[in-house]
Amino acid sequence: MAVGTDGFGALKARLKSVLKPARYAHTRGVAATARSLALRHGIAPERAALAGWLHDCAKALERDALQRLLGPAGADAGERAVPALWHAPVGALLARREYGVRDPEVLRAIRLHTTGGPDPDPLAKVLFVSDFIEPGRPRWPELPALRRLARRDLDAAYFEVLRLKLLDLVSKGRPLHPRGLAAYHRHMESRCPAR
Ligand SMILES: [Fe+2]
Ligand SMILES: [Fe+2]
Repeated sequence: MAVGTDGFGALKARLKSVLKPARYAHTRGVAATARSLALRHGIAPERAALAGWLHDCAKALERDALQRLLGPAGADAGERAVPALWHAPVGALLARREYGVRDPEVLRAIRLHTTGGPDPDPLAKVLFVSDFIEPGRPRWPELPALRRLARRDLDAAYFEVLRLKLLDLVSKGRPLHPRGLAAYHRHMESRCPAR
């Protein structure tokens, strides 16, 4: 599917036809937030919006279809073990195969959008943060301050989102993906270098 700078009309129509309304509304919020944050931080806004539009595209698939695509998507053991993570690697696969995206940073941002990672490029940071702070997400009391922080300091917002997500998973007794933990450790090392 051709993606231009015309506001992603064809892409939006396709996503609207396959995603549930609430998922589409979230997707629209993430794309708008990613575009705005990218502009703020000197990142190409159309690439950020594209990543936002497509980040949850695999949510349109049923569980069996998602599971079948884990192999072709190159999902790692940590992703395979947690069904809630499946849509990220499969989403990157679909973005390339079904939606014609060739930009490796956009594909990587989609892959990392649930777990984060220790070496994210700016586009991956923007998507990871935008997925958490988009206007339709009302459930975290930290969100107003986090939205302000994201406009001021993308790195700090990235770590804060990561920290909150890890805390939430631990509090619910859910597994942590090694990539998220590695991201946490990398950040702590950067703040407290060994002497
Ligand atoms: Fe997602
Ligand atoms: Fe999402």
